[in-house]
Amino acid sequence: MAIDIVALKQRYAAAGQAHLFTFFDTLSSDEQSIFAAQLAALDVERVNSVYAKAVEADAAAAAMASSKAVLGPPPAESTISTSDASGKDAPLEQELRMIGLEAIAQGQVGVLLMAGGQGTRLGSSAPKGCYDIGLPSHKSLFQLQAERIRRLQTLAEKAFSKEEGSVVIPWYIMTSGPTRKPTEEFFKERNHFGLEAKNVIFFEQGTLPCLTLDGKILLDTKSSIATAPDGNGGLYKALRDKLYPGSSETAINSLQTRGIKYLHCYGVDNCLVRVGDPIFLGACIKQGVQVGVKVVTKTDPAESVGVVALRDGKFTVIEYSELPKELAEAKDKNHPQELAFRAANIVNHFYTTSFLALDVPAFEAQMAFHVARKKIPTLDMQTGERIKPTSPNGMKLELFVFDVFPFVGEGGLTVHEVPRQEEFSPLKNAPGTGTDDPQTSRRDLLAQQRRWIEKAGADVRDGAEIELSPLVTYTGEGLDGLKGKSFTESTVVDSI
Ligand code: UD1
Repeated sequence: MAIDIVALKQRYAAAGQAHLFTFFDTLSSDEQSIFAAQLAALDVERVNSVYAKAVEADAAAAAMASSKAVLGPPPAESTISTSDASGKDAPLEQELRMIGLEAIAQGQVGVLLMAGGQGTRLGSSAPKGCYDIGLPSHKSLFQLQAERIRRLQTLAEKAFSKEEGSVVIPWYIMTSGPTRKPTEEFFKERNHFGLEAKNVIFFEQGTLPCLTLDGKILLDTKSSIATAPDGNGGLYKALRDKLYPGSSETAINSLQTRGIKYLHCYGVDNCLVRVGDPIFLGACIKQGVQVGVKVVTKTDPAESVGVVALRDGKFTVIEYSELPKELAEAKDKNHPQELAFRAANIVNHFYTTSFLALDVPAFEAQMAFHVARKKIPTLDMQTGERIKPTSPNGMKLELFVFDVFPFVGEGGLTVHEVPRQEEFSPLKNAPGTGTDDPQTSRRDLLAQQRRWIEKAGADVRDGAEIELSPLVTYTGEGLDGLKGKSFTESTVVDSI
């Protein structure tokens, strides 16, 4: 159907965005049709209201240090800790693990990977999950995760006497415009790392226009607007969008059809991530909560992690970009050695499917997007020449995945505190940076495997690097066969 250009122009003028038509009359008729289709499909009124809410919330965040909001750490009654290395927590862990494994064995658990980020800081053009952190096996982050899922399926089958191959943990993978194609191709070329293709479900987050600092939509070319992914909180809307153009299914439908009740949702870049962690699932299922979040202890005030907190009695994550220095450095009054805000978010979330399907849509419109001021290439509106700004000229608007936390009712959220060295070593920065880079990821994973091997009663000669396939062990179990063994040379253990 032809688009009514006059009506379209009027709609954009009414929304204060008429400038987008500045070069319209100079375009070829093909370019005009493509551009008109892009503009017609855009909900410009929503863009304006997202902008208005975002700048209001941004001003409130900037005033946080001096505001009257009551900020504090998450309450003890909502926190479960399995972070004590002495083994004191072992009985609790075992109880929770069995609760989680039972849900997995019953086919009630799915895992959800957020893989829409562009990994700008890492400097690799491929999606982050394809990255090889330099392990002896050269497995990518995606492969490590896939093999942990396979091992976990086996553990649940064994624990609940299920037939081999009968337990399935479907893997939902959210990509973005830039990461979708290369991610899907990476999986296809590698045969989905031994998982069945029908159990690896890709879907895509949305985009939003980039705006000037006063809310005008930026042009990318004379016939297209500049857009950017809508942040990992775009997850919630994306779950209800079609899996791919022309599909009749959404991720939410798929979860419901498969009878998935619980989801472990996580970020792509943590090589130690316990995908589908039965202990975390067990903790959340036992508490009967809708939402869960894993944390580790933050010790360096400058670390780029968000912190879980209570703001005016409601759960929140204060993102590192929004945490004022004085709050980041504040000490706990009762434990002066520790930071007051130390519950570091490691992007491991738990959701019930019913929360995602029913609760989120009811409050979604109230969530404020976050403002990221950036240098965004655009056109000079006088000359039409392309400009590459040297200082921030505009903003990208993003929702964060934890923006749902304040809307969770009382007692509806569990904070699960876990040991950093076992569960968190993110890949954020370019090789050689010294923190959160490929070398620190590799170091932390191999150190963990050495601890597991030594705990099993084997010995690793100094200088030898031993990598355990996730198909052999999920968290150090099943290594009895290594007892008494001495590893003198580096190797990859694929079977025991
Ligand atoms: C994130 C967390 C931060 C946490 C830190 C720990 C958010 C908003 N912030 O920060 O609180 O302490 O990790 O490492 O979660 N992603 C998308 N789509 C997007 C943007 C990101 O799917 O549009 C995915 C990424 O692929 C990644 C995850 O979300 O898996 C986190 O994104 P990233 O940009 O790495 O977040 P950080 O700023 O490091």
